[in-house]
Amino acid sequence: MVNLNDAGCLKALDSTGFFEALAGLSEQCLKAYEIGRKAAVPALPEVQNIVVTGLGGSAIGGDLLRVYCQERLGVPVVVNRDYTLPAFAGAKTLIFAVSYSGNTEETLNAYQQAREEGCALVALTSGGKLQALAAADGVPVVQVPSGLAPRAATGYLFIPMLAILESFGMLAGVAGEVAELARELETYRAAYGLETPEEKNPAKQLALAFKDRIPVVWGASGTTEVVAQRWKGQVNENAKAPAYWNVFPELNHNEVVGFEKPEELLRQLWVVFLRDREDHPRVSYRMEVTRQIIEKKVAGVTEVTSTGAGMLARLYSLIYLGDWTSAYLAVLYGIDPGPVKVIDYLKGELAKR
Ligand code: PA5
Repeated sequence: MVNLNDAGCLKALDSTGFFEALAGLSEQCLKAYEIGRKAAVPALPEVQNIVVTGLGGSAIGGDLLRVYCQERLGVPVVVNRDYTLPAFAGAKTLIFAVSYSGNTEETLNAYQQAREEGCALVALTSGGKLQALAAADGVPVVQVPSGLAPRAATGYLFIPMLAILESFGMLAGVAGEVAELARELETYRAAYGLETPEEKNPAKQLALAFKDRIPVVWGASGTTEVVAQRWKGQVNENAKAPAYWNVFPELNHNEVVGFEKPEELLRQLWVVFLRDREDHPRVSYRMEVTRQIIEKKVAGVTEVTSTGAGMLARLYSLIYLGDWTSAYLAVLYGIDPGPVKVIDYLKGELAKR
């Protein structure tokens, strides 16, 4: 088995510089904020709702925006992972069409529909067809650096949207929160990074706990729900392994019942509770009771509580742990964390007709 304390061995398995990209997230977030603030986006008409349309690594930034804005913005943010837009999308809808590659067919289709419906549009991409189309259509393009895996570009695919909403006067205090986030990410990088040995590194420890088991990640509605979803996606795409996620309080009304059979399979689950100081107090209590119900039936349970002051830093304190954990899990399986051949294959097949 790979020794997680052997940084050279980890790097040798990582053909795309995925660990290096993870380590660069603090700088990426600062740069992403600058890009967003400098974006030439004309003043908007009255905005009644915001839609972020994208898939996979380009959609999770939309979920981060949705959760972040829930208590801060007077209009709803909806994340659309589809070819078509919801029927409410119209002239008073601001659409962020987000595709890191710029070539994702669902996003390109939704972009065209947004044009037809007369929505206010902003394209967020590193290039590709989306960049070319938007430039030809006179649609504002926020162009971010290319060369990363989309899921390693979460700063670029989220923070420019915050910065634009701040420029429009729809959000306040983003600059301060991004500055805190960048500082905190440096601390988390030291805690979770390659050079920090297993005995002091929570990400390496958690990867070892996940190995040969199935992670089940539970967050709370309105706070860590997006983190739970992100952890699941990161285990899937980085470690090429299954993982599942759900949210409180909803899971107390269905999923928690399903911990009786089959007992052998349940003993392969490793359950993670993601906690945040802004979780509803009743949700915090639900987590405690739920832990008691399931703990003896599964392989293990880990609770992680966010750290930091602002919501961005708190969410990313958890996201970053999941990012590193999933990359370490990849190497424990002897897997290269960066390439996603199955997604590439699917996109190739779909492109044929
Ligand atoms: O992380 C990944 O590589 C995927 O989830 C992609 O983000 C997804 O396939 C969409 O591609 P893109 O982000 O280029 O629009």
